[in-house]
Amino acid sequence: MEKTVLEIRNLTKRFDGAGVLNDISFSVREGEVIVIVGASGCGKSTLLRCINRLEQPDGGEILLDGKPVGGGDMVAVRRQIGMVFQSYDLFPHMDVLGNLSLGPVQALKRPKAEVEAEAKAALARVGLADKLHALPRQLSGGQKQRVALVRALLMHPRMLLLDEITAALDPEMVREVLNVVLDLARDGMTMLIVTHEMRFAEAVADRVIFLDGGHIAEEGAPDQFFHHPQTERARQFLNTFEFDSIKKS
Ligand SMILES: Nc1ncnc2c1ncn2[C@@H]1O[C@H](COP(=O)(O)OP(=O)(O)OP(=O)(O)O)[C@@H](O)[C@H]1O
Ligand SMILES: [Mg+2]
Repeated sequence: MEKTVLEIRNLTKRFDGAGVLNDISFSVREGEVIVIVGASGCGKSTLLRCINRLEQPDGGEILLDGKPVGGGDMVAVRRQIGMVFQSYDLFPHMDVLGNLSLGPVQALKRPKAEVEAEAKAALARVGLADKLHALPRQLSGGQKQRVALVRALLMHPRMLLLDEITAALDPEMVREVLNVVLDLARDGMTMLIVTHEMRFAEAVADRVIFLDGGHIAEEGAPDQFFHHPQTERARQFLNTFEFDSIKKS
């Protein structure tokens, strides 16, 4: 049995008095990939943002390797838990290598030459060996998002949080980014992934968590969730995706 990396106990979060997350509890084992799905506004981003302290939870506990995340130290949180969002937020005036080296060199105080060598190797693995000195505006959305993934990985995080990282991309770029994430999963990276790409979710997930009304409404193996959902809410949710794909194809 793999050890538990992340444990969330009775997490609650309110905005303006309204409960967005109500008593959420689950844990993530080492090397496990959990996909979080649910309707727009159900609290998926808020959950990820609470985990890496971009939001302050109102109640409950979030433990990384058995200890409170970061222990109150924001730099430590960023080091331990990598996060990639829909927008790549690369520094526009810095080339790819500069964007990738900044965190490890400044926050982790690692030698620049060593970090740059690692960055080059990591870029080659995601098919961007020739983009070392490109500026972000010279890259496609899919290329920028692969750089953002590499940037998170170079911090050697204990786990990664991915929040709809392909939502702003064209379909062919979606595939190239998701392939990188599938490779990371195969390499054993522990990940919590929010996505609306249901086929990808089914392929990458060890476990699916369906959020509804601030609760975990359903949790299970991807095969069970996608093909034999247990709740009416999950069935309704999955039906909206089938309708979308018929309309678009
Ligand atoms: N900073 C904030 N202040 C007030 N309300 C917020 C804030 N952030 C999120 N909310 C509210 O919390 C709820 C959950 O938002 P959240 O962004 O977590 O949803 P989501 O599941 O990620 O949705 P989507 O699929 O559209 O990204 C929503 O009702 C949203 O309006
Ligand atoms: Mg969101």
